[in-house]
Amino acid sequence: MIYISPSILAADFANLGNDVGRIARAGANMLHLDVMDGIFVPNISFGAPVISSLRRRSDLFFDVHLMITEPARYIHDFIRAGADIITIHYESCKKPGEVLEIIKANEVRASLSISPKTPYEVVLPFMDKLDMVLVMTVEPGFGGQKLMPETLDKVRALRRYAIANNKELDIEVDGGITLDNIGLVTSAGANVIVSGSTIFHASKPKIVISKMFEAAEKKPFAG
Ligand code: DX5
Ligand code: ZN
Repeated sequence: MIYISPSILAADFANLGNDVGRIARAGANMLHLDVMDGIFVPNISFGAPVISSLRRRSDLFFDVHLMITEPARYIHDFIRAGADIITIHYESCKKPGEVLEIIKANEVRASLSISPKTPYEVVLPFMDKLDMVLVMTVEPGFGGQKLMPETLDKVRALRRYAIANNKELDIEVDGGITLDNIGLVTSAGANVIVSGSTIFHASKPKIVISKMFEAAEKKPFAG
């Protein structure tokens, strides 16, 4: 199943509740929440209080992407804030397995992300704890960058791995995804598509989202 997960990093923070309502009505079936601490990535965004406020306004599936150092320190805050799935970065912590276990023990879906320079094989030992893998298609930290096509080889390898091992796995891609390249990422095997600027900066997000679903469905995994 294809999910379009608009990243609120590109929303108007002074008008966040309304912006989220607008993209839900426009047909998004997930919401991507980028948490940045200014240490793991060179940018600061928002934390758990913003997510719990939005939780009271929206019943979209909350896809929380933690770009923070040693996420174990705050993991319970994000669980309590109402995340439906939490992604931590492989590069951000010494013991990703332990953090993933806390997430799962709290009945939240668990996901591990790899930055562009990290090989996909590092996620394999954690597979039994994972509902999703997030393959970053840009260096994490900022919206509005260009997709790095070489990262799609990792998406392909992970999709092949999941099929060969009969593992139900969502594969998310994040960064630089537009109407022009969405077919490229779905044919590589991704099914959860993050998109910030393309959706939030559009004057008619409903048209953009429905075209994104259409383009994605036209280009399923090509093997
Ligand atoms: C980057 C964030 C992305 C970003 C995507 O570190 O993880 O979610 O907001 O934005 P676009 O789609 O504008 O590249
Ligand atoms: Zn993100």
